[in-house]
Amino acid sequence: MQTLDTVAAMRQASARFRADGLRIGFVPTMGFLHEGHRSLMRLLRPQVDRLVVSIYVNPLQFAPHEDFDVYPRDPEGDSAICEEEGADVIFMPPPAGDPTGLYPPGFQTRIHVPALDDGRLCAKSRPHFFEGVATVVYRLFQVVGCDMAAFGEKDFQQLTIIRRMVADLEMGIDIVGGPIIREDDGLAMSSRNAYLKGVDRQRAVSLSRGLRAMQGALADGVTDAAALIEVAKAELEVDALDYLEVVDKDSLAKVGEVTRESRAAIAAMVGRTRLIDNVALVPRGAGS
Ligand code: PAJ
Repeated sequence: MQTLDTVAAMRQASARFRADGLRIGFVPTMGFLHEGHRSLMRLLRPQVDRLVVSIYVNPLQFAPHEDFDVYPRDPEGDSAICEEEGADVIFMPPPAGDPTGLYPPGFQTRIHVPALDDGRLCAKSRPHFFEGVATVVYRLFQVVGCDMAAFGEKDFQQLTIIRRMVADLEMGIDIVGGPIIREDDGLAMSSRNAYLKGVDRQRAVSLSRGLRAMQGALADGVTDAAALIEVAKAELEVDALDYLEVVDKDSLAKVGEVTRESRAAIAAMVGRTRLIDNVALVPRGAGS
């Protein structure tokens, strides 16, 4: 496994792979890797000849009051995990402003996918977040030159936006979505779970419990979105609810009644930690 830490070195490695006719798979991450990240590497590994994992805490997707400075980091642990999962390259570009990195001095361009971003779900409380995500993913795709990339359904809005960007810009990259990996008690794995201490760790489980209760009520025949949301709310032990919505799985527009496969999505603060989660809502008799 190689560790590459400049855009030029990554481009060179990618050009060599491509010259040899090798298929490149890519898993972008912000590091502090866990089973959720591993699952994406496992998904791609058998489908590609070279597997690239990037580790980059992207400043464009953090607001000034957010946790960029304290975002958990563990480069050595991350390298060991990538090695175990059979990655060929770890790409760890230097911080913004470094001339050899993703954002050299003077970098200005942003990628924006308005209909799936503005005012929807996470964008309500994090207005520039998805612009930051789409911009860094575009840059990474360019530099890594991948044929295929994997993203977790954990970040459902992110996955939807990346799919749209790749289609709109005809990037010719296969985007693979991976299921949410959870702790035994149902909490969706996240690098930010490291912030949860004591009772907050237990209260955090109430997000997935609430979402599961919605699935249960739907199975019992409740299809009204407002009623389903009340079912979930009854389970929540959070300090502030950012949103709890039932949305169309493709457009992310709010759904009034679950007549076809939809998505229930939640974001909430537990202590000072912001957590997100989501589940599929598949009405009786509607597909898989
Ligand atoms: P990060 O939070 O590190 O997540 C990297 C990838 O792992 C994302 O595709 C995310 O959806 C996936 N992932 C995280 N937790 C997961 C879980 N419990 N189950 C399944 N997949 C999970 O998402 C980002 O980084 C960044 O926004 C990034 C795309 C790297 C751009 O900076």
